[in-house]
Amino acid sequence: MLKFLNALLILTTLAAPAFAGGAGRIATQDEVAAWDIDIRPDGLGLPEGSGTVAIGEKVFENQCAGCHGDFGEGVDRWPVLAGGFETLTSDRPIKTVGSFWPYLSTVWDYVNRAMPFGDAQSLSADEVYALTAYIMYLNEIVDDEQFELSKANFLDFPLGNEGGFYSDDRPTTEYPFFTEACMAGCKTSVEITKHASGKDVTPE
Ligand code: HEC
Repeated sequence: MLKFLNALLILTTLAAPAFAGGAGRIATQDEVAAWDIDIRPDGLGLPEGSGTVAIGEKVFENQCAGCHGDFGEGVDRWPVLAGGFETLTSDRPIKTVGSFWPYLSTVWDYVNRAMPFGDAQSLSADEVYALTAYIMYLNEIVDDEQFELSKANFLDFPLGNEGGFYSDDRPTTEYPFFTEACMAGCKTSVEITKHASGKDVTPE
């Protein structure tokens, strides 16, 4: 019996050296490559390729406009991709690639990773460059339909709201304004002073 157990132990150790109990396996290089598709703001991860605004417009018409509208204005409640400039501090900010997003690399990465909705990762690298160029055009970042975006000129187009993103500074800007939580001699009752109902905040 002991011999059998020993043999079993050696077998499992040989078959799966890194996993206790023999569960799981090491990911293959192809699997790692398939997951490793993120594009960094400094351009790391971008594949070779290029595409013009004009080509992007065609692909957009066929594969994106049904939801996002011909000009990125958004059909019904589908997301708006263009405009909304100067609205971030208003009561109803319109957050788009042009008004809100910090990096062009996020556009490339997002479209490549997740769009078209329902058929993600079906676009070629050239199509993603062309679509990114078209979204830049819709957001007035470039104004020439022949403009070609490529790996080589990708970093030349910082987005307007890059400076709107910064490290969390609440420990110095907000926390000092909060008073200590009340631990003794606090209010004895809590009263509701207002209700949202009747104010019509939620549409029927
Ligand atoms: C079937 C509808 C549909 C189609 C077609 C579609 N999208 Fe989208 N798109 C969405 C939805 C829904 C979201 C939001 C997804 C989420 O927030 O999880 C989105 C989000 C986006 C965003 C991010 C918007 C933001 O500000 O958060 C971009 C950029 C985008 N889509 C580009 C494209 C491009 C380019 C195509 C064509 C290749 C495309 N989409 C096709 C539905 C669609």
